[in-house]
Amino acid sequence: MTEKLSSQELRRDFVAVFGQEADHTFFSPGRINLIGEHTDYNGGHVFPAAISLGTYGAARKRQDQLLRFYSANFADLGIIELDLADLTYKKEDHWTNYPKGVLHFLQKAGHKIDQGMDIYVYGTIPNGAGLSSSASLELLIGLMAETLFDLKVSRLDLIKIGKETENNFIGVNSGIMDQFAIGMGADQKALYLDTNSLDYRLVPLDLGDHLIVIMNTNKRRELADSKYNERRAECEAALSELNQVLDIASLGQLSQGDFDEYSYLIADENRLKRARHAVLENQRTLQAEVALKEGDLARFGRLMNASHVSLEHDYQVTGLELDSLVHAAWKQKGVLGARMTGAGFGGCALALVKKDAVEDFKAAVEANYLAEVGYAPSFYIAEIASGTRLLD
Ligand code: GLA
Repeated sequence: MTEKLSSQELRRDFVAVFGQEADHTFFSPGRINLIGEHTDYNGGHVFPAAISLGTYGAARKRQDQLLRFYSANFADLGIIELDLADLTYKKEDHWTNYPKGVLHFLQKAGHKIDQGMDIYVYGTIPNGAGLSSSASLELLIGLMAETLFDLKVSRLDLIKIGKETENNFIGVNSGIMDQFAIGMGADQKALYLDTNSLDYRLVPLDLGDHLIVIMNTNKRRELADSKYNERRAECEAALSELNQVLDIASLGQLSQGDFDEYSYLIADENRLKRARHAVLENQRTLQAEVALKEGDLARFGRLMNASHVSLEHDYQVTGLELDSLVHAAWKQKGVLGARMTGAGFGGCALALVKKDAVEDFKAAVEANYLAEVGYAPSFYIAEIASGTRLLD
């Protein structure tokens, strides 16, 4: 599933499904998050990067009001045919709810999409891996609509529409990190984003003789969405307890010192742990950007480790599978750091590994995982890529 597709191959596949030529072809990446986890909906910083795994697409404008969708990942579903006049969420419409949400919110923002489309997609992000296949698809559809209907829509607005789709169409209360990383990503750069102001900068991801290895638990992320929404609610509750005395709009505004001084206001131990993670993870992210800029990869790695410890014990979003991969990674030669990435509860972890140690690393982590979990993980080398784009 990890191969790259050329625009010619996409066009050929489009014709095979729809019997006509595509107008344009597109690519939208997935993302990893280096550090700054569960901070985006807490007004903190995040440090993600777009990757070369992602979603390919081809599209053609139609003369009628039909939307026809085909995903090579769900070939058994065949062509899903919908009416442009009825862009409402329906469970039975499966993955096309994401495109429907994007088109709905584009129209709602006043953009004219008055004809149907034939849309072909093929994703190389492994299913449920927590590498943001949904945000990748949202931005892909946004760019398709922008291109085919010549919409005057900014990249930031497409990013916000992706998030709105997730929050108000699909029902996951996620932050803006995934869509932002995917929409704004750049080749060989990580993106340091303040989710409060939306100020961001691209930071060269110069890893010298190290690589980022993505480790997939291959665990389906069941219950992930409800647990995600629960964590978010816990942070909001902690914030309102702090607001009895402190005039702050988000946990991201607190330094560690402020947090310590006022944490007595949080009455429940779980909420205290969640808030502590949000505050300290934000501080670690600030430090990680400095470490990367100074070329101090060893420190960057230790901050990754500390992030995982906090996600494991305070935020409690890891679980046996992620912990098995990360704890084993910490013990291997040539590893500077490792942590889960994304929402957690399954999905993927990252390790910063010396190039010449990668093969031994994979073998050892896999053997340990097989013994502890009972099935194999998968590994990919992260290639840092640019954001959602037109191919031709
Ligand atoms: C998911 C969400 C993001 C972010 C991460 C956790 O990927 O979509 O907004 O909250 O989890 O950092």
